[in-house]
Amino acid sequence: MSDDDENSGYPQAGNRRLILTPPVGWRGTEAPDTEGEVLGQLAPGTVLMMGDNPALPRMPAKPRLLDFFKHRITDITFRHLVTSGKRALDSGQDEKIVLACLLHDIANGMLLRTDHGYWGAQMIAPYVDAEVAWAVENHQALRYYADESVGYRYPDSYVRFFGPDYTPPEYIRAAAEAARKHRWYMSSRLVTLYDIYFFEKSETVDPEIFTDIIGRHFREPREGLGFDGSHVAHMWRTAIWPNNAL
Ligand SMILES: [Fe+2]
Ligand SMILES: [Fe+2]
Repeated sequence: MSDDDENSGYPQAGNRRLILTPPVGWRGTEAPDTEGEVLGQLAPGTVLMMGDNPALPRMPAKPRLLDFFKHRITDITFRHLVTSGKRALDSGQDEKIVLACLLHDIANGMLLRTDHGYWGAQMIAPYVDAEVAWAVENHQALRYYADESVGYRYPDSYVRFFGPDYTPPEYIRAAAEAARKHRWYMSSRLVTLYDIYFFEKSETVDPEIFTDIIGRHFREPREGLGFDGSHVAHMWRTAIWPNNAL
């Protein structure tokens, strides 16, 4: 904690703030279980972090979708999402497909990696057409299965990521099979088509180019994402305050 943050009115100012890492962030890794050690440091003037973390960009009181893009999504996923959206846009895809491409990895960009399609779909469901959320959910499973009719092959990147012999679990296979028979199949399949990694060579895409499409197809809550009382508001608040102890 610095004098600066004390003066700028952050919560818990004047205290040393400790951060407890969420179990999904360290279980099974080489990182040690620090829960006991952190709790052992509690003392007068030393507290568990709750609320705005001075080390993170501060979010507006009523955050909108692009605020999360600018201040919370990790760099690689930010570039991946805006590039996917831009490619769909440049290809003349329907605006809802562009939005689905822009949002498809929002969960692993700022919340959780495991089952990112399901988490992402849930986060956005109250604010988008059901077809957009469905496309986001199902892109996770469809990514593993080729569809030659649209020129989609199993991604080379997945061979690198998961090894040449990786086989997805049964629930993913079943989800992909069901998705293929669904009337919205092609919407999700299009998300996979524009879902390409360009870690090294992507140009910078200004997320503001999506402002109008977001305005037409993403119902921003008046109170801000995280504060509208919806059943997914907690997910957005978790992205705003990723270090809260509880
Ligand atoms: Fe994905
Ligand atoms: Fe992706």
